[in-house]
Amino acid sequence: MNYSRFIAAGLGVAITTTFVAATVVAGPVEDTLVIDDEIEIITRAPSSEGHPLPEVISGWHYRTDSTRAMEADSFANGGMLGVEQGAALWSTVEGSEGKSCESCHQDAATSMAGVGAIYPKWHEESGRPMNIELRINACRVDNMGAEPYKFDKGGQKPLTAFIKHQSLGEPVKVNLEEGEMQKWWEAGKELYYKRTGQLNLSCASCHELNNGKHIRADHLSQGNVNGFPTYRLKQGNLISLHNRFRGCIRDTRAEFPDAFSDDLMALEVYTTWRGQGLSVETPAVRQ
Ligand code: HEC
Ligand code: HEC
Repeated sequence: MNYSRFIAAGLGVAITTTFVAATVVAGPVEDTLVIDDEIEIITRAPSSEGHPLPEVISGWHYRTDSTRAMEADSFANGGMLGVEQGAALWSTVEGSEGKSCESCHQDAATSMAGVGAIYPKWHEESGRPMNIELRINACRVDNMGAEPYKFDKGGQKPLTAFIKHQSLGEPVKVNLEEGEMQKWWEAGKELYYKRTGQLNLSCASCHELNNGKHIRADHLSQGNVNGFPTYRLKQGNLISLHNRFRGCIRDTRAEFPDAFSDDLMALEVYTTWRGQGLSVETPAVRQ
């Protein structure tokens, strides 16, 4: 039981560094999230059939009072700057066709409402699931004659955050009936439970078996993906989902796959399904 020793070591550090041993095992905080006193966010939901946990809980419940408060107030949420940058990119003309996103999709508040809640989605032409980042690149290349954004570069994070933000409050739902989504879900599930790295940990070791516990100075959540791109206080910046995946895999001292590789797309399909029913929180505030 390698992981339990590792968690135990993490708990040891948490005890010596936080002084407050009583907070070491603490479940999700009881609280409700209403953004700007207006938009009700579903942060706890009954889990989908076949889910190993009885309830899905947003990472918001595992954060401190001040971090939770920041997400409830869009003026305090540093991620909203990224969303504003995304709004500017939406109407910026680029590429050989002389078009912006707005030229075809007009007002994103209408055309993109609900879209971010149902991705990743099967894409017939490429024979793979597509996430919002890849969808943006497809439109840039095929419809604008512009270069695709490289991973985490150019406008990729702000534009993704802007599009997902148009679904703020909408429950996440992924359609596994389309194309070969079920196969990708299965591949993602296998990766989720596969122990890797020198520490021999899987995603489930931390986010399923030990959520609610402290590891080093961190409070482990279920690892849900409904807030991405998230605003991380540590970096003072938007963090993409595939960057987060890579960070978690790196922490187990394993080789980490490329962004948008089959492995990370499969994990995105599977983890999105695990968090179904929670609202889109983009840009969520995390530590
Ligand atoms: C020349 C017109 C055109 C331009 C410019 C364009 N798109 Fe699109 N976009 C489309 C069409 C057509 C579709 C849907 C059909 C398809 O290609 O699958 C689409 C689909 C999308 C979708 C998926 C919508 C859904 O309901 O699943 C997103 C997201 C999107 N575009 C974002 C963008 C962004 C962001 C930009 C700017 C970087 C952009 N598009 C530029 C024509 C355009
Ligand atoms: C060694 C423990 C550990 C392992 C293994 C691990 N993570 Fe994490 N993960 C963390 C910690 C710590 C955080 C930050 C606190 C939190 O939200 O749990 C985190 C955060 C996340 C988040 C962000 C949650 C949010 O609310 O923003 C996602 C998504 C995530 N992990 C997915 C994964 C996936 C997928 C795997 C497997 C490839 C994985 N993690 C493996 C420790 C781990």
